[in-house]
Amino acid sequence: MPTHDFYMQRAIELALRASGNTSPNPLVGAVIVQQDRIIAEGWHQQAGLAHAEVAAIENAKQKKESTIGATMYVSLEPCSHHGRTPPCTQAIVDAGITTLVFATSDTNQQASGGGEVLEAAGVDVIAGVCEERARDANRFFFHYLKHKTPFVIAKFASSLDGKTATHSGNSQWITGTAARNQGHMARQAVDAILIGAQTAIDDQPQLTVRYPEAFKHATAAHPLRIVLDSRGRVPLDNAMFDATLPANTLVVTTSAMATAHAERLKAIGVEVVELPCAAGTNQPDLKQLLNVLGERGVQSLLIEGGHSVLGSFVDNQLINEVWAFIAPMLIGGNHAAPSIGGVGVDELSQALRLHNLHVEQLDDDLFVRGTVVGCDE
Ligand SMILES: NC(=O)c1ccc[n+]([C@@H]2O[C@H](COP(=O)([O-])OP(=O)(O)OC[C@H]3O[C@@H](n4cnc5c(N)ncnc54)[C@H](OP(=O)(O)O)[C@@H]3O)[C@@H](O)[C@H]2O)c1
Repeated sequence: MPTHDFYMQRAIELALRASGNTSPNPLVGAVIVQQDRIIAEGWHQQAGLAHAEVAAIENAKQKKESTIGATMYVSLEPCSHHGRTPPCTQAIVDAGITTLVFATSDTNQQASGGGEVLEAAGVDVIAGVCEERARDANRFFFHYLKHKTPFVIAKFASSLDGKTATHSGNSQWITGTAARNQGHMARQAVDAILIGAQTAIDDQPQLTVRYPEAFKHATAAHPLRIVLDSRGRVPLDNAMFDATLPANTLVVTTSAMATAHAERLKAIGVEVVELPCAAGTNQPDLKQLLNVLGERGVQSLLIEGGHSVLGSFVDNQLINEVWAFIAPMLIGGNHAAPSIGGVGVDELSQALRLHNLHVEQLDDDLFVRGTVVGCDE
């Protein structure tokens, strides 16, 4: 007989189908089980659309399956408030569901308490099944609720000896197609992607999600593209400012950018935000940047390089997670760019240590994902 874990794993799998599409809402999946058989499934596809519980109940109706006396597994505690949609707790009671199993509590004050509401209505409630995996699936959401700033992911592709380019600057491509596809999946999952002025100039990246696999269940817009350009060095004809691409662009700068350049950027639809410089530098203050992005509701931010920008984020201890794609090659060279630049730490004891490691082989390359110790949420 399948266990609670079995059905909850399925609910989490469904939740992840909408990865990148539900922000500012969490990812949620639900399955309805009658006599050890999944009779219906649903997931929250996009903010404003049906919640997972309601989608699953609708799915049962379409299939003419009875939900009376059924058990529902849902990856997040059902909401008990009127938001953009009515409370899920009421829909569950109305459907005659008698047991509700959920993975993680909703720490959003407005929506929390659904478990208690259901218990008061006579539904058996079981909490905390597969909690760790479900929290991981919604780590951007929980981090944002707690800190009001985005969850920050550092992403880079490097050789086995930690280089992201040769000494002459040749960097495309270090990793193979499977790793690059996975990189696009990472873009798909986040609200915004950030690069430094030099990467914009050297690589002219589009920073859009382009691989069809990544779009299998996707309906939302491309992530916001952000370039850190303190002085306005990135020319107007750069791919980052191409108005025909399906993504908005934000240039983060300082008072050193010429007003005329800022005006020209705005005229072609690019947003420009001026920030004060970080102490002792001529570059925008990254902590302030995260506050500004948080105010705009950006829950997740992917830093795609180069090594100087990644180094600044690491030096300021602003990284929550790392996505490293490592190719089985040695580039060598004292002057070849490392994956992470900046000042670095003095002592090994000060190094950012990763845990919750996920290691996967993608063709010949390795993918290592880990959260920074102390920064899980
Ligand atoms: N393998 C990979 O995964 C990968 C990924 C991306 C890029 N790359 C390669 O990396 C190379 C570029 O790396 P890079 O380190 O030279 O440049 P970068 O990190 O892309 O950009 C650095 C520039 O960003 C600006 N900036 C603004 N605010 C900053 C801040 N707080 N901290 C750091 N920089 C800030 C600075 O210019 P201003 O002072 O003028 O603003 C700085 O010179 C490219 O050749 C690219 O091909 C490799």
